[in-house]
Amino acid sequence: MKVRESGMPDEALWSSFFDPERILRAFSIDKNTKDVVEFGCGYGTFTLVTALLISGIVFAIDIEPAMIATVREKCDREGISNVLAEELDFVAKGTGLPGDFADAAFLFNILHHEQPVSLMTEALRVLRPEGRLMVIHWNHNPDTPRGPALEIRPRPDQCIEWGRVAGFVFSPDDLLDLKPYHYGLIFRKPQENRS
Ligand SMILES: C[S@@+](CC[C@H](N)C(=O)[O-])C[C@H]1O[C@@H](n2cnc3c(N)ncnc32)[C@H](O)[C@@H]1O
Repeated sequence: MKVRESGMPDEALWSSFFDPERILRAFSIDKNTKDVVEFGCGYGTFTLVTALLISGIVFAIDIEPAMIATVREKCDREGISNVLAEELDFVAKGTGLPGDFADAAFLFNILHHEQPVSLMTEALRVLRPEGRLMVIHWNHNPDTPRGPALEIRPRPDQCIEWGRVAGFVFSPDDLLDLKPYHYGLIFRKPQENRS
């Protein structure tokens, strides 16, 4: 089942809302990061830059065949071989990936899901102990040029509470202002998974 209001404008407009490298560096995504799981990769706005920054593989998942085709084509064109893009409904089926292996998981612009805790629980499962979940979402502000309806657009404190319920640890220093339109959150999987 597709996450509500997760449709995208055309790629050029969507890309204009982000500086992916700046955001990924703010999340300390670098060569010390091995494997990454990206939930809902869309056009690959963050996927290819991540692949260039890390030392492992980006497991990029999307329900839309056209998005997966786009990401694969862009990787082929740019000679990027450490992206595995797969068409999958992670709401219905989970990621299908093993547990406890990834250094990082991304839930970017998708946590307006009907059951956000279930997405975060799947992220927790795939992460290794002390692995990190990064969240990006649109500021809860009617002036943003896009983003889900404000009634379903999560505020940072809601995401933090969902993360806590899913089993993550959150430090107040890990709330980032990703100007101009977004905020970012970094959650950590505890050494000993409580679930
Ligand atoms: C708003 S877009 C965000 C794309 C990307 N994360 C970004 O920030 O550029 C959400 C993406 O999630 C995908 N998606 C929605 N529901 C999904 C599901 N159940 N399983 C896999 N992908 C899903 C959509 O097809 C879309 O590409």
